Amino acid sequence: FRKIGIIGAMIEEVELIQQKMTVSRTVQLAGIPFIEGTFGTKSIVVCKSGVGKVNAAMCTQALIDFFEVDAVVFTGVAGALDPSLNIGDIVISTDCMQHDMDVTALGFARGIIPFQETSIFVADAELSKVAFEASLKLFPEQAKLGRILSGDQFIADRDKVHALYSELNGSCTEMEGAATAQVCATNKIAFVIIRSMSDKANGSAPDNFTEFMKHAALHSYQIVEEMLTQL
Ligand code: ADE
Repeated sequence: FRKIGIIGAMIEEVELIQQKMTVSRTVQLAGIPFIEGTFGTKSIVVCKSGVGKVNAAMCTQALIDFFEVDAVVFTGVAGALDPSLNIGDIVISTDCMQHDMDVTALGFARGIIPFQETSIFVADAELSKVAFEASLKLFPEQAKLGRILSGDQFIADRDKVHALYSELNGSCTEMEGAATAQVCATNKIAFVIIRSMSDKANGSAPDNFTEFMKHAALHSYQIVEEMLTQL
């Protein structure tokens, strides 16, 4: 890949890469600073999107249009849905869906975007492979490939966890990945979402998130760093 866009929603998810990269310029677009430069020999552009699907979508389109990235990596934390995942574990996206897209009243299945070819956005095979290999190297036994579900909701309810896991087959849930995935898929740009578990999206999730978010964000960053040396 020629130039890689790297997005995180919160400062803890991007500050480590921002500290380690060599900066060539910073450009403000839609009120968001995009930091362009290099990491080793790779050209990268890093931004903190803010939380939620709209913020992620705006940043992704800006990376594609203005910076002409040919790959996008989203790094950060998520709530586990797969009961075999523990706090700190890793999910690398195979594909992504928006769990809060709900046109069931018109007969569409949950997560389906009406009148659109697909609602399941498939990650780039090479990026997923490199990310998964980096995960296995750094966190053996703690990494899985799986579906990432996004919605503008912090999930903290075990009944919702069961529903998202059984109905939509999600490995974990967060608030941005599927938006970045949709924008990349529509623009035919490669993407992968890397998430480390800060919580299990249950009643303990608010406390767990506060306690483990930084730890999980570090794991996700370490995978991005290892990936960049391999790409
Ligand atoms: N990010 C981290 N944990 C999350 C959760 N439980 N729900 C949504 N986004 C999250």
